[in-house]
Amino acid sequence: MSHLKITGGTPLNGAVEAAGSKNASLPIMAASILATAPVRLRHVPQVEDVRTLSMVLAELGLDVSRCEDGDLLLRTVDQRPVRARYELVRRMRASFCVLGPLLARRARAVVALPGGCNIGDRPVDVHLRGLAALGARLKLQHGYIVAEADRLHAAEIDLSGPRGPTVTGTANVLSAAVLAEGTTVISAAATEPEIVDLGRFLVKLGAQIEGLGTPVICVTGVEQLDGAEHCVIPDRIEAATLLLAAAITGGSVTVRAVVPEDIAEVLKKLGEAGFAVEKGPDWVSITSPGPPLPIDIVAEPYPGIPTDLQSQWTALLCLGRGRSTVEDRVFPNRFMHLAELNRLGASIQRRNGVAVIDGVDELTAAAAAAPDLRAAAALVIAALAAKGQTVVRQCHHLDRGYERLDEKLNRLGATIERCER
Ligand code: EPZ
Repeated sequence: MSHLKITGGTPLNGAVEAAGSKNASLPIMAASILATAPVRLRHVPQVEDVRTLSMVLAELGLDVSRCEDGDLLLRTVDQRPVRARYELVRRMRASFCVLGPLLARRARAVVALPGGCNIGDRPVDVHLRGLAALGARLKLQHGYIVAEADRLHAAEIDLSGPRGPTVTGTANVLSAAVLAEGTTVISAAATEPEIVDLGRFLVKLGAQIEGLGTPVICVTGVEQLDGAEHCVIPDRIEAATLLLAAAITGGSVTVRAVVPEDIAEVLKKLGEAGFAVEKGPDWVSITSPGPPLPIDIVAEPYPGIPTDLQSQWTALLCLGRGRSTVEDRVFPNRFMHLAELNRLGASIQRRNGVAVIDGVDELTAAAAAAPDLRAAAALVIAALAAKGQTVVRQCHHLDRGYERLDEKLNRLGATIERCER
């Protein structure tokens, strides 16, 4: 299991570029099943989750390859395979996004039901409700969703769940509706930029979609979809993670190749915490005058603070000048990182589902273990400010969603050593 040795205390300075969005790339890759001609994707990050989904798609009869220039090429060569096996789906639950495209294009799918997750309950009932409304016949057999549909038909679908919209549920239903006969109206759809990017990709394939970025998406089904070239949007979660890392170290960093509007609420909160934030058309700069002012963070669906930044915010606020709180209304139990941060000297308690953070003057190095992707990022952020050398174990979680984050941080002045054993 690889781990990172991080020597804290150095302010980060300089400029860095955000990679392409993991959470836009994954549903777009899955939707490539719908294409009858080759698909070429630019800016798809070289991360573990992309590699895992590439394996799932290869087993589903797609030829998936990287060009010299890093573009990802996807082309269906065999439509007979329809099974996404548990060993891969359990490794990367967003593989479940192949269900909608398989149903729409091949009329049959056998996809492993995703298992448990460290960040909390993650059912797929809303996905299944939406696909059933489109005419799919679904049943659970030995841990697999077995789905069939002669020809999907339009429906009025409400995708609301107990904690707001579902991002990949919207992706699954949208990717099925584009070939369903008639006009489908999806209400309570996710409005995340990643879903808008998926929609733009589907339109490039020839789909007819209105309302992207709003909670009501109208889809008029077409007979078939073509191929397309598409450049994936920047990864807003990586960009914001880099800004929070700069903030905790007291540095001054510019993150390029971002869409500032996609993290507007994050930038607003950084300003409230006392950081100087500037932005341009495709860049954001942050200058940190010192520890953050205490603030309250509530993670919500877009355009709120993303749940995928909640643990990174918690790390930053460990050094706050007072008491801060962090609440996650998307994954209320996404707090596996609190105990690890407390090992570094933080003072965090959970009260009624809210993390109550009493800022401390300093964090001190310790050995810590990353329980999941974004918790790993939080530990890296805390370690960048901790006195001494922190060892972050299980950093393979980090590599699932960040493209060589340690190298990017080292280029900004961090001292991070990656150890593979
Ligand atoms: C996507 O997961 C992201 N993953 C997650 O990012 C992100 O945290 C999450 O959206 C929320 O923004 C990808 O896009 C690949 P949801 P997803 O369905 O789609 C409940 C990362 O770190 N729900 O939007 O699985 C669910 O329990 C990952 O990059 C149902 O009840 O999340 C949760 O409380 C982690 N029934 C809420 O909705 C359903 O059928 C939002 O979940 C589906 C979801």
